[in-house]
Amino acid sequence: MTKVLLSLHVLAAIVAIGPVTVAASVFPSALRRGDRDAMRQLHRVCRVYALLGLAVPVFGLATAGSLGVLGDAWLIVSIALTAVAAAVLGLAVLPAQEAALAGGPSLPARLGMLAGVFNLLWTVVVVLMIVRPGSTTGA
Ligand code: HEM
Repeated sequence: MTKVLLSLHVLAAIVAIGPVTVAASVFPSALRRGDRDAMRQLHRVCRVYALLGLAVPVFGLATAGSLGVLGDAWLIVSIALTAVAAAVLGLAVLPAQEAALAGGPSLPARLGMLAGVFNLLWTVVVVLMIVRPGSTTGA
């Protein structure tokens, strides 16, 4: 059962978070070009896949419960960083994209910076998931 949950967890991370990292990174260049069609599509990818990405913590928590590692420090740090990344996406990236689409004053540099912070957070979480510092289960 753990293997099924872990597979779903990793699959969700690849399929859902991958597209958001790419779309959020490409959005600023579409904004600089003033390509509204591309901006709309990229924003849509970010929004829809952000919702699909909710499956990542759901299956992650299920995997952790099944492994009995919910109290492990590496996992608690990962959960916190995942929450920070979700907040950056939901409270900063998506609203800034919406503001840009609405024609408000928008800063491609700020959007690029936010996308970079967002991508860096996922990178740290993935490394934590694989290295699991202090974990005594598995390799
Ligand atoms: C609430 C957030 C999360 C929880 C509770 C969680 C939980 C877990 C657990 C329990 C494992 C199994 C570790 C083991 O085999 O001992 C795991 C593995 C993994 N997680 Fe997460 N995770 C979370 C977020 C994420 C995110 C955001 C990503 C990617 C962006 C991610 C990517 C991975 C990967 C790639 C593995 C496989 C690592 C391996 O088996 O070597 N996880 N996660």
